[in-house]
Amino acid sequence: MGNRTFTIIKPDAFGKKYTGKIIDRILESGFEILGARMIHMNQNDARGFYAVHQEKPFFNDLIEFMTSGPCLVMVIAHENAVESFRKFIGSTNPADAAEGTIRRDFAESVQNNAIHGSDSDINAEKEIAFFFTPNQIHGT
Ligand code: GTP
Ligand code: MG
Repeated sequence: MGNRTFTIIKPDAFGKKYTGKIIDRILESGFEILGARMIHMNQNDARGFYAVHQEKPFFNDLIEFMTSGPCLVMVIAHENAVESFRKFIGSTNPADAAEGTIRRDFAESVQNNAIHGSDSDINAEKEIAFFFTPNQIHGT
């Protein structure tokens, strides 16, 4: 099990000024932030990042959403980071997300769902490398 994962505070949550509240919860829940950067994704970034979803009917809407405004990308450390962080953020659809999770408390809809969390160790490392160089990550 890897000890790193990757997250994005998505444009909906960033635009609603939830970034500080979400970072507080991340830190209070025992996750460590190893790197953070504010970005505004262009079409290439968003299409590349979500390439696995390119055949999905919602792909174009998802790209429009992810390029609609700034967001915060972060590298997160924790024991069993991927699984712990996915549990912390809650189900994709906020209507199904458990009480006390980020998506339950801050997401608007299945698409505008406030936050991203990598779904495997391999994808976490790919996603980290997509947005960060090693010298931008604490301890590397
Ligand atoms: P991420 O952590 O962002 O990868 O979310 P996830 O792993 O919980 O869900 P998934 O990878 O299946 O979908 C990626 C993103 O696409 C979601 O987080 C949503 O923003 C969006 N999405 C997923 N399902 C739908 C859908 O049915 N309709 C729309 N419009 N967007 C969706
Ligand atoms: Mg996913």
